[in-house]
Amino acid sequence: MTAAIVLENVSFAWSPERPALQNCSLQVPQGEFWMLLGANGSGKSTLLKILAGLLEPAQGRVELAGAVGLVLQNPDHQVVMPSVGADVAFGLADLPPWQWAERVEQALRLVGLWELCNRPVYGLSGGQKQRLAIAGALARQVPILLLDEPTAFLDPEQQLDLAQQVQQLVRTTGVTALWVTHRLEELAYCDRAVLLSEGRITQQGTGMELQTYIQKQYAMA
Ligand SMILES: Nc1ncnc2c1ncn2[C@@H]1O[C@H](COP(=O)(O)OP(=O)(O)O)[C@@H](O)[C@H]1O
Ligand SMILES: [Mg+2]
Repeated sequence: MTAAIVLENVSFAWSPERPALQNCSLQVPQGEFWMLLGANGSGKSTLLKILAGLLEPAQGRVELAGAVGLVLQNPDHQVVMPSVGADVAFGLADLPPWQWAERVEQALRLVGLWELCNRPVYGLSGGQKQRLAIAGALARQVPILLLDEPTAFLDPEQQLDLAQQVQQLVRTTGVTALWVTHRLEELAYCDRAVLLSEGRITQQGTGMELQTYIQKQYAMA
């Protein structure tokens, strides 16, 4: 197995008395779709920020197969340009301009937005804006997608559509995706899932295994 994401004994604290992550270890194989679950405040976003290089772990080791694309909760905070195509092209500034058109088309086709290339971004639904953010990452050909509760602002139908779309993308492109959620129904789409509780990884299994485990926990609480 080639791991795209390796986290080894990673710890992090926002303040000395409150560790946010304690000894977290994780290996996500290349080309798989994993989910990271946990209650509010369990450390999911902190872990993703460490993977994205936005935070340095206090202890431990992070190893990635390459650059990451980060997709956040709020669809409106990620759009920078007025049109769909321009928004994807915006991330390609360090490539020669003659490569932009092909990259933009490829990426927009992968997320099903190519027909909307010339449309203004403000007319898109929340789900389409999240797909646009994903297209931005795909156009840069990053090997890893990190998604922090990308469905938080979507209605239930768009929510499951997006999970299915990412599942499909992982299968067709070989990108590795780590998706943060607290919604159990999304687990149906992942290859494997990890549970974070108070900064520690406490369970790992298939989506179904985690779903059953968490439902039992709730039933006992
Ligand atoms: N910028 C910050 N400054 C101080 N504490 C923070 C900050 N961000 C998160 N925390 C704390 O770190 C812990 C984990 O938060 P977070 O990673 O955002 O959890 P989750 O994404 O699972 O809801 C929480 O106790 C939270 O209050
Ligand atoms: Mg969070």
